Amino acid sequence: MLLAVPAETRPGERRVAMVPDIAERLISSGWQVALESGAGAAAAFPDEAYRAVGVSLAADRRTLLAGAEVVLTVNSLDETAADLVAEGATTLSFLQPTQAAASLGILAAKRATVLSFDFVPRISRAQSMDALSSQATVSGYRAGLLGAERLAKFFPMFMTAAGTVPPAKVLVMGVGVAGLQAIATARRLGAVVRAYDVRAAAKEEAESLGATFVDLGISAEGAGGYARELAPDELARQHEALAEVVAASDVVITTASVPGRRAPLLVTTEMVRAMAPGSVVIDLAADNGGNCEATQAGEEVVVGGTTVVGVANPPSAMATHASLLYARNAANLLGLLARDGRIAPDWEDEILAGCCVLRSGEAVLEAAAEVLGVPHRPIAPAQPIEPDGEGS
Ligand code: NAI
Repeated sequence: MLLAVPAETRPGERRVAMVPDIAERLISSGWQVALESGAGAAAAFPDEAYRAVGVSLAADRRTLLAGAEVVLTVNSLDETAADLVAEGATTLSFLQPTQAAASLGILAAKRATVLSFDFVPRISRAQSMDALSSQATVSGYRAGLLGAERLAKFFPMFMTAAGTVPPAKVLVMGVGVAGLQAIATARRLGAVVRAYDVRAAAKEEAESLGATFVDLGISAEGAGGYARELAPDELARQHEALAEVVAASDVVITTASVPGRRAPLLVTTEMVRAMAPGSVVIDLAADNGGNCEATQAGEEVVVGGTTVVGVANPPSAMATHASLLYARNAANLLGLLARDGRIAPDWEDEILAGCCVLRSGEAVLEAAAEVLGVPHRPIAPAQPIEPDGEGS
């Protein structure tokens, strides 16, 4: 069972898909692990740390990928790397078919099996493999810190000899995994936090972390525990009701998303202009179009005195721990692929069936079939998948 870990090629990416401690665990359970030399450097994992636990280092990506049964990356392989993957190999990464159509086509032609962390079912048994959650945890924490750092005010209330300073008011919009972590981080720093989401379950979760929930009476529960897209009239009502809450906030952190769609627009430029000068918007949905109309991905723009930070690839900014958590998720998922020292996936397993995009080149996921223009060949799970709604 040879696992290859090439360096990430996405511009600005600092994470690596495997870290030395977890590689050691895989090796002791029968895997051989090979890493492209230097792949861990930006996440503070030097080649020597991998070598010390028995990982072989490859200077050449072509040789590394040609011999691998499983290829592990954080981002989906680009076309050049997909070209180097061996016939019938398995790849594991984040991958959205619509964003990786060309690579997916190459992998389908090679009869590869493609697994994506984007589609791991949100069920209890899969929590240790849920890289969407682990990376969202990093993003939410990062957003809380960024908000505190960009605001020229204290987060906590300060009682000093020079008088009392009130605490900062933070609004978190979108209370999924990232939003909950942003709430927790802002609360730990002493801010007064309000939170908003369209899923009813989010209220209790936000309140348990000390936030006050903003209830607009708009409920948009979708399938699988996710939110659905709002209808235009709901969106208009939402904007109207939120304008006042946004204007009263020092920091707005937005994390809202709907699977497979552009991020919902929650904060208009007009709303940003109504905020007090010096306020801050941290938009974690920037890579997906942004929750704020003024957001530019990877940029900071100032609108009417408010700084709007369009955070691009937020987990990459905390690459060491983001990589560690990702590698743990990956090792747990790889455990489902291996049986008696060889790659023998059990396709009856709802987790494997759920995250499978291509199986031996065939489109298991409907979105992959659409993108590739080929027949859809789903895997029927042994048990129907019921989301249990437990956040992490
Ligand atoms: P996400 O990244 O898809 O979206 C973030 C948040 O944005 C969600 O809470 C969503 O409701 C909210 N949102 C979407 N449209 C919105 C709008 N127009 N206005 C305001 N908020 C909006 O969410 P994430 O973090 O991936 O979580 C999705 C679901 O999965 C949640 O129900 C979560 O509790 C559940 N989950 C379950 C796990 C399990 O293993 N049981 C693990 C992790 C998450």
